[in-house]
Amino acid sequence: MCGIVGYVGGRASIDVLMNGLKRLEYRGYDSAGVAVIAEDGTLSTRKRAGKLAVLSEDIAEQPLPDSTTGIGHTRWATHGGPTDENAHPHLSADGKLAVIHNGIIENFAAIRDELAGEGYTFASETDTEAAAILLGREYERTGDLREAFKAVVGRLDGAFTLLAVHQDEPDLVVGARQNSPLVVGLGQDENFLGSDVAAFVEYTRFALAVGEGEMVAITPEGVEVTDFAGNPVQSTPFEVQWDASAAEKGGWSSFMAKEISEEPDAVANTVRGRVADDGTVRIPELEGLDDLFRDISRVIIVACGTAAYSGMVSKYAIESWTRLPVEVALSHEFRYSDPVVDASTLVVSISQSGETMDTLMAVKYAAERGAKTLSICNTQGATIPRESDAVVYTHAGPEVAVASTKAFVAQITALYLFGLHLASVRGSLSTEKIIEETAELQAVPEKIAEVLTQHDEIAQLAHWMSDTRSVLFLGRHVGYPIALEGALKLKELAYIHAEGFAAGELKHGPIALIEPGQPVFVMVPSPRGSQTMHAKIVSNIQEIRARGARVIAIAEEGDVAVLPYADSVIRVPLASPLFEPLLTVIPTQIFAMELSEAKGLDVDQPRNLAKSVTVE
Ligand code: M6R
Repeated sequence: MCGIVGYVGGRASIDVLMNGLKRLEYRGYDSAGVAVIAEDGTLSTRKRAGKLAVLSEDIAEQPLPDSTTGIGHTRWATHGGPTDENAHPHLSADGKLAVIHNGIIENFAAIRDELAGEGYTFASETDTEAAAILLGREYERTGDLREAFKAVVGRLDGAFTLLAVHQDEPDLVVGARQNSPLVVGLGQDENFLGSDVAAFVEYTRFALAVGEGEMVAITPEGVEVTDFAGNPVQSTPFEVQWDASAAEKGGWSSFMAKEISEEPDAVANTVRGRVADDGTVRIPELEGLDDLFRDISRVIIVACGTAAYSGMVSKYAIESWTRLPVEVALSHEFRYSDPVVDASTLVVSISQSGETMDTLMAVKYAAERGAKTLSICNTQGATIPRESDAVVYTHAGPEVAVASTKAFVAQITALYLFGLHLASVRGSLSTEKIIEETAELQAVPEKIAEVLTQHDEIAQLAHWMSDTRSVLFLGRHVGYPIALEGALKLKELAYIHAEGFAAGELKHGPIALIEPGQPVFVMVPSPRGSQTMHAKIVSNIQEIRARGARVIAIAEEGDVAVLPYADSVIRVPLASPLFEPLLTVIPTQIFAMELSEAKGLDVDQPRNLAKSVTVE
């Protein structure tokens, strides 16, 4: 949940650290801090509660000494509130060594007691400070940062990425990871560490993923990766596919506004290179893996939040195309529910970040029970794809806004491609049908672009409704997960009560919530897809309208049946039922973003949230 950056080389380290933290701020934004080793060989730190801007202003007013080595941290509080004291870095008792940390050290209380028994005192309530003091004690014993680090990481339980510097070894940053992300940026006479490649992509596009249970030491001259016992580990560098400008706002009012505008590209780029000349699906990453998918008898999708809703949408398509049963489980519920998982189960994880701890743990749980694992992921070098048998990357580009938008449509796209691939491998769909569905997917970007042209009307609606305290969302079939996703966006961004329901469930309880003026978004399925479903939703609309609801219908062009009952209609282009969610979700995203702006809230960094949830 925290963002971590480290640098050693020839540049002013404070610039590299602050730029890196700016790009990682989506990971946590309740406090931030840096530690640099000055040219005179002393360690200087600065840390402040609040967003990165607070630290930035502080450093501008009172600059830190010149330095070319340092570490930086942006925090999402777990142990101890967001105060100056609890912000990272934390120092050893002699103040010569600084540590930053992402994750939770589960046995910190025991370590703290041990150190307190030896007379050490603590300035914060954090688990991290226990590691910093312990590391300082080990440094006194060994006089060597690598050795001291090795002694400490082996003692820590839980999930952590830890970086440290010591003023007596000014050209060295050490790091370690266990169930928490860490990537190395490879430069010329300089090297970088980051929670993800965004931390350093403005300086280098060559990266190395540090594996589970590995340590790394970077100097200007090189990078050494070892396991926790100190044995060398071979890692293969990779090239980052996007450049720094992709992670910048580029004139948009928010990252979210920019990311919504990029949704046609997110879909197009995810499809690109995965359609053969004959119009069938060809996923290069899955070549040679047919056996993996031929013998399965069921699919379980594991994911959290928006990613789980993309799984719920895709379940309908995968089941329809492959006739395999597909179950969608929230990752954090999955492994505690004693699920039926065996070698004939394919567990598909979905994660934008590829670092969500709950999802990672679900994948590991499934793999330990012999299941096959496939990752749908947007972040190269992330942990979940590394832990999976196969990966299909979404090519949405970096998603910086905490609320997920373009990753959602890219996830559905990747899952649909996978569903068609699976249908082809298993022979459950004719080639003609596969070509037809693939063509429909290829047409989606243009249709999303059409929906985006209604941005101003949707914004106006949101601004009119800026005092609204509760919004309901209804949908059937693939419209149901969109109702859930629309409600989630509104909760996250506008901090108002919002709930999504399966429209058929209305009469079983939720209709009691309807009172005059209650806004209800309704995902109206195409009458061309199913007359019955369409008719049923129109009667649901009548039922709530009769009780005074204010109905906002999201319906396809030309559907006039909703007109007499809806207060507002947002149009989406014609698409066959399985593809409608890729269009109907867009107005809900724009609405939530605009309502948040109308309320003067922070669209990109909603309160209490972090982009990737790397603690359980
Ligand atoms: O990185 P992931 O896709 O694994 O993240 C999963 C959820 O934490 C994420 O989708 C979350 O629900 C977003 N804030 C939704 O906007």
